[in-house]
Amino acid sequence: ITLGLDLGTSALKLALVRDGHEIIASASRPLTVQRPAPGHSEQDPADWWAAACAGLDELRVKAPAELAETAAIAISGQMHGATLIDAQGRTLRPCILWNDGRSQLECAEFEAAWPASREVSGNLAMPGFTAPKLLWVRKHEPEIFARIAKVLLPKAWLGWKLSGQFVEEMSDASGTLWLDVAKRRWSAEALAATGLNEAQMPRLVEGSAPAAELSAEHTARWGFKRPPLMAGGAGDNAAGAVGVGAVRPGDAFVSLGTSGVLWATTAGFAPNPARAVHAFCHALPDTWHQMGVLLNAASSLAWWAQVCGLPEAQLVAEAAALSHSSALFAPYLNGERTPHNNAALRGGFAQLAADTSRAGMTQAVLEGVAYALRDCQAALQDAGTTLQEASVLGGGARSAHWVQVLADVLAIPLHQVAESEHGGALGAARLALMATGAGLEVARPPQRLHTFEPRADAVRRHADLYARWQR
Ligand code: XUL
Repeated sequence: ITLGLDLGTSALKLALVRDGHEIIASASRPLTVQRPAPGHSEQDPADWWAAACAGLDELRVKAPAELAETAAIAISGQMHGATLIDAQGRTLRPCILWNDGRSQLECAEFEAAWPASREVSGNLAMPGFTAPKLLWVRKHEPEIFARIAKVLLPKAWLGWKLSGQFVEEMSDASGTLWLDVAKRRWSAEALAATGLNEAQMPRLVEGSAPAAELSAEHTARWGFKRPPLMAGGAGDNAAGAVGVGAVRPGDAFVSLGTSGVLWATTAGFAPNPARAVHAFCHALPDTWHQMGVLLNAASSLAWWAQVCGLPEAQLVAEAAALSHSSALFAPYLNGERTPHNNAALRGGFAQLAADTSRAGMTQAVLEGVAYALRDCQAALQDAGTTLQEASVLGGGARSAHWVQVLADVLAIPLHQVAESEHGGALGAARLALMATGAGLEVARPPQRLHTFEPRADAVRRHADLYARWQR
């Protein structure tokens, strides 16, 4: 039995898993995002800890005997966040999240200070990434910067709370711009360009490798029989990939979470920084991946539901019953990464007509996210990757209507799979199992529930609409 924790943006989820496959018990605790200034996006790490403790308490009530038998734990984490602690382990400021846009200027400064950045990190400096955020802190909060003992990504902070050890793994470390992604080690030059050094970074391991042990205090607190091993874990997208079985070159998935992701596993390091493709390490040794990332996918629908004051499901049902609408929507509610890399972009509706209804606007939101993912598909294509089919993960994957729209827009078959809502936690639990000695075969694809084939007439219609939407 292994335990996966998924530290997301809108929730922290836990899954207790037998043999890397059967979910024995799960728990979820909501998280909120604070936006103290336009374009800023932060969370208090104390809220992650409270959510993790409450979730573990819940598992102990739901499945005490199984929880006690846990052999290993791994964490899947929202990527890129800058969690800063001092030498006493005190949090120096709220974590600056992956969808925070404040450091656009500092991206250019970072690339000027480290001209080899695109080549070594394989990625364009984008405001969501960790290094430019640290330049922002150095400039705007120098007294905090001076006290930084460790810079941790969200899951490394949570892992340290659980184990007392500072450990990071390759998939998440790839999103800092401080990793030499081909060589899978910290780049001293990249760190120096930010005024940091390797002593301020956690130790690196592979995601499927043993990293630490749960502390004696927490082992006793949640009644584990032996201190569970802690594996390296993964960034949430790499964990989702392990959960959905996207571990071999060519395997792909689409994630409709708070962020939108188009992922393809690759045999080697295959960058395309010009189109803002992310070229990162996978959480498995000797494996890499490419992905296109939208800052707002399911969060666009959540925003629209909030504006309307109605449940998402009702809005989507109205849209599904619609025969035609001309409305278009750009989902750039707080900037965009792939392909635009522009934190200042904002969203909008267009082509509204006198007869545009609420349903038409909902449909535009669903299509706008799909078109933005089509932009990612084109960017990956430019980087040499042609997708043949993909599984769908994240909260949006539950909506048959949305997945059909996406299949029509991307013009590839999309698979709805079992346990897609547990993707990250399940992937983490599988990495934990690998850290105890299991092989890659535990990362098998889950059961397919339904395949949405692209429909020829809709594919043609969306190709026209997509061209209009791009303009
Ligand atoms: C990936 C990214 C998002 C977050 C969401 O680069 O920023 O997908 O990982 O948690």
